[in-house]
Amino acid sequence: MSNPKPLRKAVLPVAGLGTRFLPATKAMPKEMLPVVDRPLIQYAIDEAREAGIEEFCLITGRGKDSLIDYFDIAYELEDTLRERHKLDCLKALEPSFIEAGSLIAVRQQEPLGLGHAIWCARAFIGDDPFAILLPDDIVQAASGKGCLKQLADAYHETGGSVVAVTEVPREQTNRYGILDVGKDDGRLVEVKGLVEKPKPEDAPSNLSIIGRYVLTPEVMPYLSKLEKGAGGEVQLTDAMAKTIGEVPFHGLRYEGTRYDCGNKLGFLEAQVAFALERPDLADGVKTFLKKYIDKV
Ligand code: G1P
Repeated sequence: MSNPKPLRKAVLPVAGLGTRFLPATKAMPKEMLPVVDRPLIQYAIDEAREAGIEEFCLITGRGKDSLIDYFDIAYELEDTLRERHKLDCLKALEPSFIEAGSLIAVRQQEPLGLGHAIWCARAFIGDDPFAILLPDDIVQAASGKGCLKQLADAYHETGGSVVAVTEVPREQTNRYGILDVGKDDGRLVEVKGLVEKPKPEDAPSNLSIIGRYVLTPEVMPYLSKLEKGAGGEVQLTDAMAKTIGEVPFHGLRYEGTRYDCGNKLGFLEAQVAFALERPDLADGVKTFLKKYIDKV
C-alpha cells in the first residue's frame, strides 16, 4: 500500500497490579522498577521515540500516579542539582522530560483485560494508526534499530497491522497470543489467524506475540464490543483476529532480544544484559559474574 498514514501515537498499558513483584510493588508501580538505573517505562518511551512516536497515552489505574510524576518537571530536585553543579545528574533526567501536552493518562477503572485497556484509549486513538508497547517487555536492539522502529518500517511497507513475534517452546503457548501462519519469508509472516493463550495441543504454531504492536484503527470497532475471551478478559488478540482480511496483517520476526520483566528471572536477566552494555559497569559486572559462576 502506498503512503499509509504516519505513525505518531502510542498506547502504553500500565494498569497491572504487578502481583509477581510483591511486596516491591505494594506502594510503587511495577513500571517504575529499574533495570540498571532507568525504570521500565523509560525503556518503552525511548523505543517509541526512536520509532517516531510523538504522542503517548498511558492506561493507568489507582496507585499509579508516580508514573505521571515521573514525566513531570521536578523543580526542587533540579534546582538543588543545579546549585550543586551536578550536571551529570541533570543530564540523566533528560529522557524523562516530555513535551507539554504530548502525554496523557486515562484510568482503566477495572482490570477487564488488555483489550479493554486499549479500548479506554479510543478518544486518543481516533482514526489513526497506533503503536502499543507493554512496558513489561524490554527489547535490546541487535542492529541499532529498536523493535518498534522495525515494526513501524514494516507498517509502512505493508500498510497494515504488524505485531512483533518470536518462537517459543510449544509448552509455553498458553502464555501468549499465538499466530496461525500463512506465507512466511523468514522475516515477515502473513497472519491467517490469532489465538490467545492456546493449550500446546491446540496452538496453530509456536510463533508468539511479544509486547509490541502497530495497529490500524480498524481494530477499534471490534474492541468496542467488549466481548470476553480467554481467562474471562476482553482480549486484544481476539479483536485483532477479526481485522484479518479487512487490513493486511503481519507478524515480524524482530531483530533483538526480548526480556520479559514481568517475571523475576526475565527481570534479573535484563539487569545483567543491560549492565553488560554499559561501559561504566561492564567490567565490574563481568568480575562479579565470574565469582558467582565459580560457586554454581
Ligand atoms: C499479553 C497479550 C498476549 C501477548 C503478551 C505479550 O498477555 O494478551 O497476546 O502474547 O501480552 O507479552 P499478558 O502478558 O498480558 O498475559
